[in-house]
Amino acid sequence: MLAELVCFNPACRATYGITEVLYNCPRCGGLIEVRYSGDRMDADELRRTFRERRMSNAPLEASGVWRYRELSPFLDDYSSVVTLREGNTPLLDGRLAALYGGLDRLWFKHQGFNPTGSFKDNGMTCGTAQAVRLGMRRVACVSTGNTSASMAAYAAAAGIEALIFLPHGNISFGKLAQALEYGAKTLEVEANFDQILALVRVLAEKLGIYLLNSVNPFRIEGQKSIVFEMLDQRDWNPPDWIVLPGGNLGNTSAFGKALREAREIGLIGKMPRLAVIQAEGAAPFHDFVKCGGEFHAVEKPETLATAIRIGDPVSWPKALHEVRSSCGVVEKVSEQEIADAKAQIGRCGIGCEPASAATLAGIRKLTAKGVIDRGADVVAVLTGHLLKDPDYIYRYHTGKLEAPGGVKIRSTFGNQSVVVPNDPDRIAALLNN
Ligand code: F0G
Repeated sequence: MLAELVCFNPACRATYGITEVLYNCPRCGGLIEVRYSGDRMDADELRRTFRERRMSNAPLEASGVWRYRELSPFLDDYSSVVTLREGNTPLLDGRLAALYGGLDRLWFKHQGFNPTGSFKDNGMTCGTAQAVRLGMRRVACVSTGNTSASMAAYAAAAGIEALIFLPHGNISFGKLAQALEYGAKTLEVEANFDQILALVRVLAEKLGIYLLNSVNPFRIEGQKSIVFEMLDQRDWNPPDWIVLPGGNLGNTSAFGKALREAREIGLIGKMPRLAVIQAEGAAPFHDFVKCGGEFHAVEKPETLATAIRIGDPVSWPKALHEVRSSCGVVEKVSEQEIADAKAQIGRCGIGCEPASAATLAGIRKLTAKGVIDRGADVVAVLTGHLLKDPDYIYRYHTGKLEAPGGVKIRSTFGNQSVVVPNDPDRIAALLNN
């Protein structure tokens, strides 16, 4: 297989070597993607190979990303791979959540089961492999928290230096703690995600540091495996809908690319529709798709779902293409809707972080509008683990959660702990009430 870099802009499509360090096209400024050509195994052989590898304990086969390497063959050899056994995340049946969302049945593909607790690990193992292949000594990213946690872990495992830039005061403590524990040099900048991304791009060029944000096309190649693994778990029967939260829109780009490529190869016979859900206070992509015209960034994005607090998502041109190619939709949901949906996912015994719960809030809205049918076959992707943001959970259940601007979030499904005396009679009386 030949792998090359190509400009995503249909009016340009300039091509570049696979080992060039590029995030944007030098000719037109467009986004860059990885393209493959040449012969590959046929669909049946691929399906069989992927299934057989699940029996193996070899690190490359045990990874839920590298198991599907024929579908992202950008490396010549695999000596640069650093794996933490990423992927391998379950598809979980969320009965109560289905009811809440207005569906007969709902499946969660839970990316929180990854080594650092979010879907970023699927992309980071590929981005890190490319960094090692290129002989990079330092990697950097700006992050709302999960990318940085993941990059810090993979850089540490690879023995390279990690430089992390965070929006000061706007990431959850759990995510910041991960970066520190994995040994990353961590800088908190007095600016928002979009402003820091511009800053980091300048620094990366100035200092020759490899950028591992989702503008890095190899991150996108890795995140395709979330879709491949989900299809494999469903014996290659695609669902009607895949629902995911949208922030910087890297995942939307990756999912669409994965689906188009799986269809081209013959691994699936139909395209599921993508439903991308944004938080109301950070919904530039939703507004753009709904209203048309020019893309307008949201200057001061606000949401308690800090993972998706992004006003100027870099990957929007790719995401737009993928939403259109899949006959998809984009919806936005309120802080209250996210908080209540999150509590319902918790009640299934599953749980997730706030950004992930935008999926169920979006599903509830889309079924109410008749866009998604009650009987539809739906997979929602939970992008991060429940324990990423325990502060949010505690505040919700104790009625102390406030949306940006100070509006109180109702604790609709609140569950408070009760302080009791060390007295069996009084505790028994309380429990029998
Ligand atoms: N869900 C979670 C838990 C995330 O951490 C992110 C993005 C998203 C959804 C949105 O995904 O950007 O591909 O549309 N987090 C990034 C970060 C921006 O820095 O960790 P997207």
